Parts: sequence; C-alpha cells; structure tokens
Amino acid sequence: MQVHKTVESLKKSISALREKNLTIGFVPTMGALHEGHISLVKLAKMKSDAVVVSIFVNPTQFNNPDDLENYPIALNDDIKLLEKEASDILFCPDVSEMYPEGMLTKKYPLNGLDKGLEGGKRPGHFDGVCTVVHQLFTSVTPDKAFFGEKDFQQLAIIKHLVKELNLNIEINSCPTIRDADGLAKSSRNKLLSPSEREKAPLIYKSLMKAKALFAEIDINELKNIVKNEIESCEEMTIDYVEIVNPETLKSVEKSDVLEKAHILIAAYLGNVRLIDNLPLND
Ligand code: PAJ
Repeated sequence: MQVHKTVESLKKSISALREKNLTIGFVPTMGALHEGHISLVKLAKMKSDAVVVSIFVNPTQFNNPDDLENYPIALNDDIKLLEKEASDILFCPDVSEMYPEGMLTKKYPLNGLDKGLEGGKRPGHFDGVCTVVHQLFTSVTPDKAFFGEKDFQQLAIIKHLVKELNLNIEINSCPTIRDADGLAKSSRNKLLSPSEREKAPLIYKSLMKAKALFAEIDINELKNIVKNEIESCEEMTIDYVEIVNPETLKSVEKSDVLEKAHILIAAYLGNVRLIDNLPLND
C-alpha cells in the first residue's frame, strides 16, 4: 500500500491509476479503524479497481475541543489493517496540508438537512464535514465513495452535496456493523470504561423496542419510552431522540405505514457521546 502525506504525491499516484484506466473507490475516515470502516473498504474493493482510504482527524468538524483532544489515534494499527485488506493507497495528511490557510470552513447549500439532529446539537459540524469531504473528493477524484449508515445524517448530506455540486461521484452506503451485543462499532467505543461498555448496548435495545412498538404507539409517546428506557441507566443521558423521514430528515408526526420513518439517537455514556439509528418500518 502506498502511503501519502501530501496532496501533490497523492495526485501523482492517482494519475498513474487513471493512465491505466482503473476506477477508484474512496473511503474517507478519521482512523482508529474498526470492522465498520473495514466493511466500507471491502465494499469499495468489490466495486472498484483501486481503493483509496484517507485518515484525517478533521479539526473543523469537532465543536468540542475535548472531543478532538481525546479522539483515538492508531495509525500503525490502521496501516496493518488496511494492508490486510489490500487497500491500494492511504492518504493521511497533516492539518497544515488540509488547512494551509487556517481552520476555515466553507458554507454549502444543504437544503436544511444540517439543521436538526447532529447539526442541531453540534453547530458547524457539517460545515466542517462538507469542507473536508469536498477537499478530499477534489484531491482523490474518486468514481465511487463509501459512507456508513451509522452516520445517517452525514450520509444524507453527502448525497445532497454531490448532487448540489454536480460531482460525478457515486455515493454508496453501507449498513451499520455492530458488536455481537448490538452496540454499533465506533472509534469512540475505545473510550468507554469496562462498566460503561457493558451498559452501552442499551442504545440498540431501545431502538429495537421502538421498532417493535412503532405501529401501535403515538410518536411522542414512543420517543418518551425510548428516552426513559435509556435514562433508566444512571450513567446515560439522552442528547436527542428523533423520528424523521429518512430522505428529508424532517420530523415524522404520526406513525403512518405510508411514510418511511427512521429513529436516531444521541446519548452520553459518561463523557462519551454515542449515536445510533434504525429504520422503523422497512
Ligand atoms: P469516521 O467516524 O472515521 O467514519 C468513517 C466512515 O465509517 C463513515 O462513513 C462512517 O459512517 C463509517 N462507519 C463508522 N462506524 C461504522 C459502523 N459501525 N458500521 C458501518 N460504517 C461505519 O465519518 C467520519 O469519519 C468523518 O466525518 C469523515 C466522513 C471522514 C469526514 O471527516
């Protein structure tokens, strides 16, 4: 696997792939790789000739300095994992390479998709995500890019961004990979203490409960049931529980078999903020 730290050297390798007429699949990440990330790499490998992975902990998408400070870094292990998957190129730039003029973010027309959920709780988060993903797309020039359903709002926003900017990139989504007890794999799970880790599957359990009850119960009551279930664990605090239309991300007001509904949760377990989501009527 080739490892590049600068856009200039990355672009040379990309040109060499283009000369051979190879299609490029791209998996952007912030590293501390786990099986969720690896599932994206495997899908990229299946659907493209060459796979480029990026690892960059993007400061502009962190609205909380402690979260950025504590974000796990494991570059050597990540490189081993990516070599095992036969990734072709790793791009792991420094902050100065991605932001030579300082931490500036751009504003993108996102049609309100960034207003609620993560965007509501983490002001500026999606400006940071879009800025870095757009810049990575410009450097990697992929044919296809791969994003996880774990970050449901991010996926919707990236699909919108690609349309809005007229980029010729096919966005592929991958289902959420979970531990055996249901906890969605996340780099942040590494930050949980053993006792917090034991309690963490409650998030998925409450999502499953909401799915089972969806057809029978009023939406607001359902959200309250989920909130109460999660907060029955002393160490957990709900940040939000929302039930939205999966395309528009607008709140669904009534359980309705005709309208698609998706439940999204963010909760703190101790100091660690975890997110998860599930379709309610698929
Ligand atoms: P990161 O959190 O490292 O995630 C990289 C990709 O892996 C995202 O598309 C995310 O949805 C996916 N992913 C994470 N956990 C997953 C799981 N359990 N199952 C399936 N896919 C999973 O998301 C980001 O980085 C950043 O915002 C980024 C897009 C790289 C921009 O900085």
